[in-house]
Amino acid sequence: KLPAQVRIVEVGPRDGLQNERQPIAIADKLMLIRRLQDAGLRSIEVAAFVSPKWVPQMADAAAVLAGVLAESRPGVGYAVLVPNLRGLEAALAAGATEVAVFAAASERFSQRNINCSIAESLQRFKPVVERARQAQVRVRGYVSCAAGCPYEGEIAPAAVVAVASALAGMGCEEISLGDTTGVGNPASISRMLEAVMRHLPPQRLAGHYHDTYGMAAANVYASLQLGIATFDASVAGLGGCPYAPGAAGNVATEDLVWLLHGLGIATGLDLDRLVDTAAWISRLLGREPFSRVTRALRAT
Ligand code: HMG
Ligand code: MG
Repeated sequence: KLPAQVRIVEVGPRDGLQNERQPIAIADKLMLIRRLQDAGLRSIEVAAFVSPKWVPQMADAAAVLAGVLAESRPGVGYAVLVPNLRGLEAALAAGATEVAVFAAASERFSQRNINCSIAESLQRFKPVVERARQAQVRVRGYVSCAAGCPYEGEIAPAAVVAVASALAGMGCEEISLGDTTGVGNPASISRMLEAVMRHLPPQRLAGHYHDTYGMAAANVYASLQLGIATFDASVAGLGGCPYAPGAAGNVATEDLVWLLHGLGIATGLDLDRLVDTAAWISRLLGREPFSRVTRALRAT
């Protein structure tokens, strides 16, 4: 039986924009976040407090978060990525109430993305999560390469289980399982989820599926059948990870909503507004929306 309702975490302003080379004005980022809320989104990842040398597009994280919080709406959660204590302190100073740490199930990806081993990253996150929870800030933990790695190829479900359990054990309330490069399919995603669900209930898990091979919607459907009811998505299908070359963005929020509404699953989102927002941000970035649903609905 499929869940009656799904929570969508919009990661477009972070995962979607982090890979953009051209500078994007803070006012445009704030407009995007405003429009996403108008479309009904209640969980939005708005920025990353990472090194600006590593991800230049996120250098304005403090200003973006402050701008968002200055016009924050009741019932909406705004999250930011933090890679270390320094990022957490900066996020707290800007008023953050939700943060996310990010680890990987692949050693080589961990080195490329955050310049340390998996074990070192978990050691580094421990005081970050502890300090965040002291400040009554909700913490999410990401596991990248949950269905494969751009450098190592196949990743064993046991490696995902180990990192997901470590993050949950240190106090991450929700674990988002990232198919960073979109190589997963319903069979490999189901195997991975079944392994993780022997240790963590589906209520604590989220699916974070990139759509490089067009499998993200199928992977969401497989996950729904296992009881997963939280999915990350990026409006227009924007994005990709700077340390996963060639990877496309997350499943487009519009495509996800089209799928879920088609299945009779409630999301609280307004598809027309999402499509308008997808078309608007794509125009601003000077490209066609990646989302098939937006392209189809704009053509009619
Ligand atoms: P490092 O070079 O090992 O660390 O980087 P460091 O402590 O030596 O710092 C290097 C420089 O960055 C120093 O500056 C620090 O001060 C500065 P310098 O002295 O050279 O002028 N620095 C910072 N600046 C601002 N904010 C900070 C911060 N920390 C250090 N928080 C580090 C280690 C983790 C910092 C770096 O590797 C990094 O920032 N990596 C982030 C990479 C990233 O953002 N990747 C994309 C997000 S993850 C993703 O997309 C996957 C996900 O979507 C799930 C999925 O799809 O799988 C979540
Ligand atoms: Mg991602």
